[in-house]
Amino acid sequence: MHIDRRAFLATLGSAAVVESMSSEARADALEHYLIAQLDKAPAAKTSDVRSGTGALFGGPSPSGVRVPLAALAPMPDQPTLVDFLRLRGTPGIGNHILQSAGDALKKGEPEETVLACLLHDFVLNLMKPDHGWWGAQMMEPYVPEKVSWAIRHHQALRFYADSSVGYEYPELYVRIFGKDYVPAPYIKASYETARKHKWYMDARMITVHDLYAFEPGVKVSIEPFLDIIGRHFRQPKEGLGFDGSPVAHMWRTLNYPNNPL
Ligand SMILES: [Fe+2]
Ligand SMILES: [Fe+2]
Repeated sequence: MHIDRRAFLATLGSAAVVESMSSEARADALEHYLIAQLDKAPAAKTSDVRSGTGALFGGPSPSGVRVPLAALAPMPDQPTLVDFLRLRGTPGIGNHILQSAGDALKKGEPEETVLACLLHDFVLNLMKPDHGWWGAQMMEPYVPEKVSWAIRHHQALRFYADSSVGYEYPELYVRIFGKDYVPAPYIKASYETARKHKWYMDARMITVHDLYAFEPGVKVSIEPFLDIIGRHFRQPKEGLGFDGSPVAHMWRTLNYPNNPL
């Protein structure tokens, strides 16, 4: 705890009184002062939901903004990825992933990279902590292995610069995590694994296009991506959530976010 020396001395009285105190008495007074400060410390900021709650469930954005919940449109019986993108994402996340895929498309990236950008943060609607891992798992049965690998590792790579492609530590992260933030050891380990991997650049490019995907007022349509989705996303005929895959429950949870159990 930071000790305001002047404020502490002022609680003891005049300079003459302080001078006359034994060092034990001063130590006792300091202890009382510190305990009193602890009692005064502001309570941790509270919210109706924990920060990790997915955005579709009313959770705040990573930078803390909460979007009011809107009524959800019904989903088709066999929902596709496009149905989920259109009907089960909050506007902020939807706009961000479309902008990032749009930037990748505009700059001539391979279709798999465009798809990875389009899907990289969709899971934030469901769950925020470790979204790289959650997001990769959610997409894994349906996309090329390289795409889910890139989604998994983009989370860690966001914390590490790579000047070879003009990627710097994001200003947004200084605001979210504070300026002296050191990523947890598991994030560092994920970064180090990715750095040595043959698909490193596939994950890295998600982070590069991410930088151009927070433009206020810019709206990107999903239309330019429909063919890419058709070619690279294995849409199950039963619909996402009903295909018996190991991650079907994640899609169902987004489909029915108001189910009580
Ligand atoms: Fe992300
Ligand atoms: Fe992102």
